[in-house]
Amino acid sequence: MDNLPAIIQGGMGAGVSNWRLARAVSQLGQLGVVSGTALDSILARRLQDGDPGGHMRHGLDQFPIPEMAQRVWQAYYVPGGKAERAPYRSLPTHSKDSSTELTELCVVANFIEVFLAREGHDYPVGINYLEKLQHPHLPSIYGAMLAGVGYVLMGAGVPLKVPGVLDRFAHHEAATYLLQVTGAQDGDERSMAFQPREFVGRQLPELARPKFIAIVSSNTLATTMLKRANGNVDGFVIEGYTAGGHNAPPRGKFQLDENGEAIYGERDVVDLEKIRALGVPFWLAGGYGSPEKLEQALVAGAAGIQVGTAFAFCEESGIEDRHKLAVLNKVRSRTARVFTDPVASPTSFPFKVALLEGSLSEQEVYAARPRICDLGYLREAYRTPLGAIGYRCPAEPVTTYVSKGGRVEDTVGKKCLCNALMANIGHAQTRNGKYTELPLITSGNDLTGIARFLSPGMSTYTAADVVAKLMIGWGPPASQSPVSSDTIIA
Ligand SMILES: Cc1cc2nc3c(=O)[nH]c(=O)nc-3n(C[C@H](O)[C@H](O)[C@H](O)COP(=O)(O)O)c2cc1C
Repeated sequence: MDNLPAIIQGGMGAGVSNWRLARAVSQLGQLGVVSGTALDSILARRLQDGDPGGHMRHGLDQFPIPEMAQRVWQAYYVPGGKAERAPYRSLPTHSKDSSTELTELCVVANFIEVFLAREGHDYPVGINYLEKLQHPHLPSIYGAMLAGVGYVLMGAGVPLKVPGVLDRFAHHEAATYLLQVTGAQDGDERSMAFQPREFVGRQLPELARPKFIAIVSSNTLATTMLKRANGNVDGFVIEGYTAGGHNAPPRGKFQLDENGEAIYGERDVVDLEKIRALGVPFWLAGGYGSPEKLEQALVAGAAGIQVGTAFAFCEESGIEDRHKLAVLNKVRSRTARVFTDPVASPTSFPFKVALLEGSLSEQEVYAARPRICDLGYLREAYRTPLGAIGYRCPAEPVTTYVSKGGRVEDTVGKKCLCNALMANIGHAQTRNGKYTELPLITSGNDLTGIARFLSPGMSTYTAADVVAKLMIGWGPPASQSPVSSDTIIA
């Protein structure tokens, strides 16, 4: 691949790496990546907040199927925004055969996020998905491709079947994706399908096939991806266990240290010589947000670095300002702490949490939350005794989870990330006008390190500050080529 970015701004869900952040980074010639997680809910809530700035309306106006865009607008837009204590409308949850309403919302939402991130410059923009959140994959990817997404980056699972989906969608051909169903038996129907031609109901020009980057944490997974993926894998992000968000669990025996954090060791360190020998470009992630680490990555043969934490707390990120400032205050007073919670995430991957008073990082604050599961992105599909597909989340009410065959011990310490992550970005659900969902902020281990981006006397910094500081000594920051606009339709 020519003209690779030296810096990938990592995808940060939900809504942390939004179109605004990704655009700011791509405009500088590095790779801005929007998070593709829960974009349907985020669009629906932005519209119910009255679409401040009119950006969603602007994106809807560019969607190639105007009547679909209009249906989304009519269903969710609230002029002037909903009353503060009024709840957001519930959406249907994703399942193997999601409703048409949800599928349309999902395609449109992914389109808008990428379209807006691409506006005003000619550099590529990427989108990030978590493989484990499988239900929305097909409509999400198609929506992003309709808007000309340049890269699809995916981790948190083994995305062997995604490259082939990109190949098919480039020609508007139908694609399927096999749903992981716990307890599935041979012959069970688990295939999710999406038929672009039927969905759009009109002739559309061919789409550019985005590059596919797999986010991996082991040599084995990188090798497996190259050997067994059903299409081209164009590169890897090699993500270490100090990275923000979810981490791969430690290899071998799962042990906790005296603070209750997972213990990682030698076996969790990726052998970069072997990665280099695979002959595809790679970027290093997890504590690489400094000029010294960029240099180290380049010396190790990487194309560059993927950085999350530094961008998560910059002005353009989607985290609500008051939470961002609370974290930045802790950074400045050197009291910022990050805990790698081994159990909080329903995905069962370790999840890093920035400790923040009044947020769900505090056990007693979480204990006061009504145990409700109504967004359902992290639900696990399982085979019911009658052979159908059921859905359960270990963060839902314990009796409900157990009644679906879940194990009570799996519910201990589980937190509802879906609602917390929506609260992080200013779309907290309010329940009966009484309880408002609270945030749970994630960050990489090197949270204190973001102090390097704060100029003396300043309490905030921008994405451009991050890029400039990381690239110090590397000449002009732009290292990618602009994309040609005739290969895309948006
Ligand atoms: C707030 C936040 C949210 C994240 N969400 C995701 C995500 O949705 N998908 C993903 O692949 N990685 C996610 N990550 C990981 C980043 O994309 C990136 O790889 C990582 O942050 C790099 O390490 P660093 O935090 O030390 O810079 C997230 C990181 C942060 C800080």
